[in-house]
Amino acid sequence: MQADLIVGIQWGDEGKGKIVDLLAQKYDYVVRYQGGHNAGHTIVIDGTKYALHLIPSGVLNPKAINVIGNGVVIAPDELLKEMAQFGDLRDRLFISEHAHLILDCHIAFDRAKETSLGGKAIGTTGCGIGPAYADKISRVGLRLCDLRNEAVMLEAIIARGGQLGIAVQDKATLKACVSRWADQLLPFAANATDILWDALDRNKKVLLEGAQGTLLDIDHGTYPFVTSSSTVAAGACTGTGLSPKEIGKVIGIAKAYCTRVGFGPFATEQINTTGDRLRTQGDEFGTTTGRPRRCGWFDVPLAKHACRINGVDELALMKLDVFDGFHMIEVCTKYENNRPVYKSFAGWKSLAGCRSFDDLPEPAKVYVLALEEMIGTKIALISTGADRNDTIYR
Ligand code: IMP
Repeated sequence: MQADLIVGIQWGDEGKGKIVDLLAQKYDYVVRYQGGHNAGHTIVIDGTKYALHLIPSGVLNPKAINVIGNGVVIAPDELLKEMAQFGDLRDRLFISEHAHLILDCHIAFDRAKETSLGGKAIGTTGCGIGPAYADKISRVGLRLCDLRNEAVMLEAIIARGGQLGIAVQDKATLKACVSRWADQLLPFAANATDILWDALDRNKKVLLEGAQGTLLDIDHGTYPFVTSSSTVAAGACTGTGLSPKEIGKVIGIAKAYCTRVGFGPFATEQINTTGDRLRTQGDEFGTTTGRPRRCGWFDVPLAKHACRINGVDELALMKLDVFDGFHMIEVCTKYENNRPVYKSFAGWKSLAGCRSFDDLPEPAKVYVLALEEMIGTKIALISTGADRNDTIYR
């Protein structure tokens, strides 16, 4: 058996949470493989909103087992806060003992660095992601398994704070923290790679859930305005220990328009009433930071690039209903002299109640089919609203 994979093909916030939630009902295992609590998946079930940051979306399916892979970086208190929402997670949540920890000094360092960069800041989420991954790559990081020796862990945290020039909490408070983390997190620490190999060997269905998006990838994104992990499909291999041969279907998630949070290039951005309207109608505010997202038109060349990098088999097109009431919709079809060239499409009144492709108004069908044709990848699912039921399968 191979694992299926979900990956954002833009700058994150494509609506992966809704798709993973829908699919999580059909999978035995749901796995996060990179990123940390900078991610924010909002899932709406019967009108109730759940904001997930670190725990895989399978947590909302009582039968699914959730795995946090070695490629994820974990802020212990953030994870514990999130876990507390779901009652007893034993036997339903496994965390790679090799996942690296985000310490308070990483968070403080991330924020101080952004402030010192002034106009050149990345616009990070301030979650300590970059400094934690930097420590991992520099081979000075602390992992979940290191909590097994609390005394060594305590000294290491104090030393790391000192090296980064960040004042850490007094030793007694920190000691209590380390003890609490060890007590509450070590019961979930596991060899996540073995768990996933075993699941695939037993023909269990495994879903790998990417966070952020392709254009935020440390290697393939709009560097340096990226996150610090491998957000592309290949990151699932390093972030779990599964081999490329164990990855099956790759589902790319695209929003019907583009958004990005933080700074960095965004050629189709609309800094005008169109962008404002997309932000309002699409409720484009960060789940983690509440920041308003930058909004603009769909970018076909970037989508094609992302589909190739990830080996996308099929696409899910999200938030198509956000265009309700738009008279005209534009799409960047190519670049000439580094400038986007647009094609215009007619808009529509409303997608409310559309539950099949045939239900869609003609202009919406034209828009979807044109994107599919230009990207060269099947759009197998269309989302017309936040609720699970507002979903069209093709
Ligand atoms: P960091 O991941 O906090 O270091 O932030 C680096 C860049 O990635 C910033 O532009 C963030 O806004 C962006 N980013 C990080 N996580 C997400 C996400 O889940 N959705 C969208 N953008 C994100």
